[in-house]
This record gives sequence, C-alpha cells and structure tokens, in this order.
Amino acid sequence: MIQSKLRDSFGRRHNYLRVSVTDRCNLRCAYCMGPEGVEWLPREQILSYEEIVKVVKVAVALGIDRVRLTGGEPLTRKDLSLLISELSRIRGIQDLSMTTNGLLLPEQAQSLRRAGLQRVNISLDSLNPATYRRVTGGGDLQQALAGIEAALEAGLNPVKINVVLLRGVNDHEVPDFIRLATEKELQIRFIEYMPVGVGKMEQAESFFPVSAALEAAAAYELSPTEKVIGTGPAKMYKLAGGAGAVGFIPSISEDFCAGCNRLRLTADGFLKPCLFWQDELAVRPVLYDPDQLRALFFQAMIVKKKAHQMGEDGQSVKERCMSRIGG
Ligand code: 5AD
Ligand code: SF4
Repeated sequence: MIQSKLRDSFGRRHNYLRVSVTDRCNLRCAYCMGPEGVEWLPREQILSYEEIVKVVKVAVALGIDRVRLTGGEPLTRKDLSLLISELSRIRGIQDLSMTTNGLLLPEQAQSLRRAGLQRVNISLDSLNPATYRRVTGGGDLQQALAGIEAALEAGLNPVKINVVLLRGVNDHEVPDFIRLATEKELQIRFIEYMPVGVGKMEQAESFFPVSAALEAAAAYELSPTEKVIGTGPAKMYKLAGGAGAVGFIPSISEDFCAGCNRLRLTADGFLKPCLFWQDELAVRPVLYDPDQLRALFFQAMIVKKKAHQMGEDGQSVKERCMSRIGG
C-alpha cells in the first residue's frame, strides 16, 4: 500500500474520506436532529456531483483510498448511483461504501451495487417497532429490515448495522441484536452516543457505555477477531456458530482518536478534519485550482487537533448537527 501523503502533526496518516452528499433526511433520529428536525441547507449551497468528484480525485491523488458516502440520508439525493459510478471509476479507491438508514434500499440496492458501491452500513437502533418509531421520529421498522434484506440480496458485502446505544431506550436490546447476528450474515456494531449537534438528548441521561453492552452480551460466546479492512475503531467478535459478527465502538470512553485516519467533506463543501472541532475549510473557492485544492488538504492536516473533547465537562458539538457533518 502506498502511504498517504496526508499526515497530520501527530503522525496520523489519513486515507479515509467521508463525503456527505446531502444534509437532508427522511428520518428525525433523536440523537441526530431531534423530532423537529433542522432547517435544510439551500440547494445552491450543496456541492454538485461534478464538484464532489473533483474533490475526491484530488484526495485520492494524495493518498485517500477509502471513500464513504454519508448524509443526512444519502439515498434521498437524486440519482445517487450516478455519483457512485463516477467515483467507482477513480483508480485508487479500494473501498467505496455508504452509511444509510436503509429505508430506500429496497428500491435502490441493486442499482447502487451495479454502479460500483461495495458495501453499506445501515443504522438500526431498535428491533422493536414502537421504539424504532420513537427513536427515528416516525420510521417504519419493517421498511428498515426490508432495506437490510435488499442489501444482503444485492451482495453489498459486508452489511454492517449501526446501533447507537441509548440508556433506557435500547440498552436492553443488546442480546436481541446479537441473536440477529447469529441468524444473518450481519456485522452488528454498538456505538456510544456522542453529544453532537442540537443536544436533544442529554448526554448524562442517554449515554450507555459499550463496556456495559459487552456485559449484557455475556451469555454469548464471543471470540475476538483480527481487524479486517473497514472495521475502523470497532472491536470485533465472531459469534460461535453464527453467521455474523458483533462489534463495540467506544467513541467516548476510550482514546479512539489516536488511530484516526479520517477526513470529512460536508455537503455544503467544507473539509472537516474532525467531527468535534469547529475547524472547517471551504473547498468552493479553490475548486478550480488543483494546487490550491491540494493545499487545502494539507491545511486540514495542520489544523487537525489531537483528540475530541466530547464527554469532558459535558462538552458537545453545537455548531453543526450530525446530519450536517455526515456522522
Ligand atoms: N452519536 C453516535 N453516533 C451517531 N450517529 C449519528 N449521530 C450520532 C450520535 N450523536 C451515527 C449512527 C448512525 C449514523 C448515521 O451516524 O451510527 O447510524
Ligand atoms: Fe437521518 Fe441519519 Fe440523522 Fe437519523 S441519524 S435523522 S437517519 S441523518
């Protein structure tokens, strides 16, 4: 593997770009935007596919080899397969993935796969229809489950499931999710809730540590697996006799930042070195100047801080909510 030229002041090399294609969403998850939602950005502020491809090409030339599309909900953006085809033609991208709530996958999974999407992460915070509806602000569990089936059928492999742990909401469902991973070839990942955005859920009340989720998983025989490509900060376990795997992502309770290799491009065209810090660099003014665009990536490396401060003294991110950052 060629080493990425994108090395920050702490020696971390960056090879992973998360591209938010829209801030819009067809759900209103409590931990993301809350039931009232947030105001959508005006369309003219959103990068066109052509502009996104331009930025990604420069990123790949600098050493990015993993690209993930995020939102909002990426599948709410028109003709997303067109963007995926363009991206899948860029030589140097080894891993092209997407994070989605899955609701639109029944219609789109096949064409996304054909366009060159390799795999998906699907958000699924409850297996109980009423809880799912409550957490997502009205979502239909059956539709999300149909989306997961569609992803498996289309061969978007592996299919990973993101479960944001929420105390008193879904923490008792940990064994149910693990059972699902014994039945289907899914990688279920439990993620610690991060206080990002409008703060509709109080961190102190809603936070449930992955260590407690691991305890709740005690009835299952879990064997740690070697890290494979794409597992990022998750600690993964295989299930004895099961098809799938489970993972635990201690976004808050462990020093998760030490291995950070990611950069973000927001839908409105800002490079964000970190989810937590306010720093963001506008790509639009330099879009048509390849030298300056390259320089912007190096600038992102210079300003990138060592770690987030979420969870310390109730610190949270307020400037941009998750749907405007891209998770
Ligand atoms: N904390 C943790 N994860 C979050 N996500 C969104 N908001 C948060 C948050 N506040 C992640 C979830 C979801 C994906 C879209 O982004 O994993 O599945
Ligand atoms: Fe939409 Fe994802 Fe935010 Fe839920 S977490 S409201 S699915 S962008």
